[in-house]
Amino acid sequence: MSDSPVLVTGATGFIGGRLARRLVDAGVPVRAMARSASAAIAPGAELVIGDLTDRTSLEAACAGVSAVISCAAITGDKKAPPGGYDVVNADGIGALAEAATAAGVGRLIHFGGIDTAGAKPGPYLTGRRRGEERIKAAGVPWTILQPSVQFGPGSPFIRAMAGLVKAPVAPVAGSGRTRIQMIHVDDVCRAAQDCLTGDGRLGRYVELGGPEAVEYDRVLDIIGGAMGKAKVRKLHAPLALVRLQATLLQVLPNPPVTPAAVELLEKDNVAASLDVVEREFGFQPVGFAAHVASHGLEL
Ligand SMILES: NC(=O)c1ccc[n+]([C@@H]2O[C@H](COP(=O)([O-])OP(=O)(O)OC[C@H]3O[C@@H](n4cnc5c(N)ncnc54)[C@H](OP(=O)(O)O)[C@@H]3O)[C@@H](O)[C@H]2O)c1
Repeated sequence: MSDSPVLVTGATGFIGGRLARRLVDAGVPVRAMARSASAAIAPGAELVIGDLTDRTSLEAACAGVSAVISCAAITGDKKAPPGGYDVVNADGIGALAEAATAAGVGRLIHFGGIDTAGAKPGPYLTGRRRGEERIKAAGVPWTILQPSVQFGPGSPFIRAMAGLVKAPVAPVAGSGRTRIQMIHVDDVCRAAQDCLTGDGRLGRYVELGGPEAVEYDRVLDIIGGAMGKAKVRKLHAPLALVRLQATLLQVLPNPPVTPAAVELLEKDNVAASLDVVEREFGFQPVGFAAHVASHGLEL
């Protein structure tokens, strides 16, 4: 592998932070992009200040790197920034890809997600798709990873679910039967690292999911079990009602739910098959229930 660093964007985030640490541990030179000089990044990584909304900072961040792993985004559980999610997730990702192309970067590995939208995406998933189209148009060799929802140390999803489980009754959007192919963040990072070598995944979407598809209600039960709760009481609310409530709550500075989060959980968040990782990367990812039973929630 080249001596030039790999740029990891979103290096203060859940996936980017874990991935930067993994690469440093493997002896890969890492340039970790963060928005502030005081950001905590993986020890041993080189810090670069950059913002997806600041093209000049992206040009500097991409200079001299062999590859970019794009983990920065506004996730759907957060309120949209001024101007909407697209400012970061479409235009910002486009600017990153264009900066990578201009710098002659060898490959851009981008974190999207399993596309649950089908033919009628809502505004959040439309923005994600726009960002991906900008990557493909930019000219840099690309791979787009599409993980399902992740567990593992500091998982924002597991933390949010644990918060709901603590309440006397856990509110659930819809039937609770939506299936999620939960995958451990370390398995996702291992796959991303693998994408740094070889040409077989260039120009491709690659889905990532764990070995089982777990219904949302069952995810809550597994989390409840790990928290010592014999039974998790749930209140299922119609999706249309939750969507409306989420829309109204956006007037708050930190709303407890966003329309984007509802959009992401409206349909099954599963890959084409349960063995996608084994077939693509040759290893078996850990299962959600078994891993939580042996390691706890890793909050
Ligand atoms: N977590 C999952 O289960 C999951 C599942 C499927 C797909 N994904 C996708 O994977 C990607 C990473 O997710 P994550 O869970 O790691 O998210 P996360 O923990 O929220 O991290 C997001 C990162 O993006 C950075 N960021 C936000 N706005 C930025 C901007 N304008 N310029 C530069 N950096 C910016 C954040 O920096 P600050 O610290 O400065 O805010 C943070 O480092 C996202 O695209 C997400 O949709 C995640």
